[in-house]
Amino acid sequence: MSVLPHLLLEKLEGAFKNIDKMLVKNERHLLTRTYRDPKGNDTHNPRIKNNHQRLSYLATRIPATYTVCHEVLSRLAAYDFEFSSLLDLGAGPGTASICAKYIFPELKKILLIDQDKDFKAFAESVLTEPYFDKTIIDYKLCDMRALKTSPGHDLVMLSYGLNELRDKDAQSCVYKAWAVTEKALVIIEPGTPKAFTNLRKRRAELIQYGAKIIAPCSHQNECPMPMDLNSDPKKLDWCHFSTRVERSHLHKYIKEGTLPYEDEKFSYLIAIKDLTMLLPNNRIVKRPKRRPGHLIFDLCTSQGLVQHTVTKSQKSLYKKAQKAEWGDTLDDFNAQDK
Ligand SMILES: C[S@@+](CC[C@H](N)C(=O)[O-])C[C@H]1O[C@@H](n2cnc3c(N)ncnc32)[C@H](O)[C@@H]1O
Repeated sequence: MSVLPHLLLEKLEGAFKNIDKMLVKNERHLLTRTYRDPKGNDTHNPRIKNNHQRLSYLATRIPATYTVCHEVLSRLAAYDFEFSSLLDLGAGPGTASICAKYIFPELKKILLIDQDKDFKAFAESVLTEPYFDKTIIDYKLCDMRALKTSPGHDLVMLSYGLNELRDKDAQSCVYKAWAVTEKALVIIEPGTPKAFTNLRKRRAELIQYGAKIIAPCSHQNECPMPMDLNSDPKKLDWCHFSTRVERSHLHKYIKEGTLPYEDEKFSYLIAIKDLTMLLPNNRIVKRPKRRPGHLIFDLCTSQGLVQHTVTKSQKSLYKKAQKAEWGDTLDDFNAQDK
């Protein structure tokens, strides 16, 4: 569980000063309905309709999107990359940029693009704090579908932005994003069947453009997930992961939740330009089943989806496998590790 930086939490609470939290709580229901509406992908009709809805988004979604960004960017940080510039598309309140700066402190330039001026104001209030002193921040209010930025962004992020676009706009947006990416492109989406279906299309297109997908995929073959929204729902499965999000008092109040945490499902892609980079091992695509004396893993491998059992007799492999979680990679499971 990643903890929201103190700075961000303070700004969030500050945004609620002199605000009737009850009104924000009421607007959350409407906003949730809009986000769940399958016809909601239309940039011309922004999902957030008023300031109370925006505040409800800030209080309940920033903790979740920050935690997911943290998890995904930590996977990227395991590679030997150095990023000095970031382009954040559909940046909203700047969550992905803020998280990226914490994980890659070497970032010197951040360009954020969104069309919501109030999100811009919130992001700028955080990004001007001393921690970001030595970073050049530029937040442009414009339509990301008309992206006209020159190449040269080491890292490009599209965090929870694509699912607000129609499919053909999402496709051209990713095409343009990839064209201006110098090293890595990260796409994060909700962990729903629908968002995954679209992400899988983007993955296939990126491979055609010459990208190397290093996560979550452990191969560049066709995605083996049995996900076709028109087929038997019992046979559906989609590539998604889960992370635990800590809930603040404010978060609990607006969401009317009692637990101090919630589990956030997400899907993601990390595409890189360097084709020489080694691919990861087999990815664990479900929560491991822990049974007496053995562990069962659902893995995505270059041979497709495989269920693999690691038994206690495989001593050191078993020891390593006991620590492995959903979303991690697993060392070569063919290893004769007795
Ligand atoms: C769900 S929010 C995600 C914000 C942020 N990236 C995060 O992870 O918290 C989606 C953002 O995409 C922006 N957006 C949607 N369509 C857009 C477009 N065509 N051009 C620019 N921004 C757009 C919205 O204004 C909103 O701020």
